[in-house]
Amino acid sequence: MFTHEDLARLQGQSLKMQGWIRQQTYSPDMEKTLRRFSSWELAELILRVNQSTLRGRMATDPSLPQGLVEEDGRQRWYTLEEINEIRRRLKINRKSLLPPRPQGKRAIRAAIANFKGGAGKSTVALHFAHAAALDGYRVLAVDFDPQATLSHSMGLSDVAEEVTVWGIMARDLIRETERMNNAARGAESGVALPERKLPSSITGMGLTELRTKDFIKPTSWPTVDVIPSCANAAFVEFASAQYRNLNPEWSFFAAVSRYLDTIPADDYDLVIFDCPPAIGYQSMNAVFAADVLYVPSGPGYWEYDSTTSFIGQLAEALADLSQFQGIVPAGTMTLPKTFLDLRFLLTRFEPNNDLHRAMHQAFRKVFEGRVAEHPIEMTRAVEQSGRFLASIYETDYREMTRETWRRARASFDRAYLEFRDNLVTAWDKLEDEA
Ligand SMILES: Nc1ncnc2c1ncn2[C@@H]1O[C@H](COP(=O)(O)OP(=O)(O)OP(=O)(O)O)[C@@H](O)[C@H]1O
Ligand SMILES: [Mg+2]
Repeated sequence: MFTHEDLARLQGQSLKMQGWIRQQTYSPDMEKTLRRFSSWELAELILRVNQSTLRGRMATDPSLPQGLVEEDGRQRWYTLEEINEIRRRLKINRKSLLPPRPQGKRAIRAAIANFKGGAGKSTVALHFAHAAALDGYRVLAVDFDPQATLSHSMGLSDVAEEVTVWGIMARDLIRETERMNNAARGAESGVALPERKLPSSITGMGLTELRTKDFIKPTSWPTVDVIPSCANAAFVEFASAQYRNLNPEWSFFAAVSRYLDTIPADDYDLVIFDCPPAIGYQSMNAVFAADVLYVPSGPGYWEYDSTTSFIGQLAEALADLSQFQGIVPAGTMTLPKTFLDLRFLLTRFEPNNDLHRAMHQAFRKVFEGRVAEHPIEMTRAVEQSGRFLASIYETDYREMTRETWRRARASFDRAYLEFRDNLVTAWDKLEDEA
């Protein structure tokens, strides 16, 4: 017979193993580091310019970062900081190498969501974050999932639970309750909401002293930060139910959105959310804060089936939120929630598999223009790089067959560029910053 103690013992064994894997992966200091990128990658895959044109331009201006020549002697290898400097300083055919960003707008927010487990959410979020950073954007990733796949793959494993989405939500409850109590005191007529009191177990956690930037952690990528998650944050789902009882008028679903609004508009370009495989308090916060919604789905029938129920339940959950109309202060949010774009993205797609192609057709037929044109292909390289807690972009192509690496990267590049195009169109429609 087995009890919680047996489960705890097995978990202990597993944690030791995880530590060992991290040590093997991130040695020597257990810190994840970012590799350099070769001149071939820089020209062809990152800046997407002619290799000899770039070489010529770099040669005529020795003040540009010149990278390092490694043992193979043929290529120069550049850090991402160097690449970003080249991007800022160089124009090719009078064209800027900076990625598009509309003027006067805050960072755009994209949620990768589906309650189907294993749909490829974390893989897509990680790869889009890295692809965007290589494209010259400054990225903030938010891990809404206590499984913490995204945090772990970005190299964050020791995370305090206060500095997760849970901390953001609890802090928001305290602040909002205070705001509502103050409004009630200030109201002249008797229509004001009753005064709410929160227990010291919540107010005494020191959350109100945390500043916006305390929740944001750097990663091994200089232009990718993350609001991480951790296993302890799993109780956010229980806690949030309790919090709602303490203050039923608290617009719990807007906590993260309110938090993100306090980040200066120009700190990041793209904010990307990895969601848990469930509709709950955390995923509703992600969806509510998102300007665009990306729904990844595997190419099987059951996955199509789950995706269908996901959008149904999401529709109901979003409709339910309308009850908050009139409770939240005018001008702070608009209900019902609207998205600037909504897409389905097939993942783990095998182009030579008839069934997968048929499913892609079916998705297109049903969801019409809402289906991304370029699915994410199933590749050994992604399977393999996932095992080493890295994206294909971080993996050095010399570690595997160049063709295997290229195929995986090409698939993510196509999907990313389509994502970027859609994002820029949506971004233009985003309200101007005040
Ligand atoms: N394009 C791909 N090629 C090969 N393997 C893939 C690909 N995409 C995802 N996988 C693998 O499928 C598994 C599930 O992917 P992932 O963790 O991204 O899904 P998820 O939707 O985030 O899961 P969860 O619902 O548990 O959060 C992982 O082992 C991942 O490495
Ligand atoms: Mg995941």
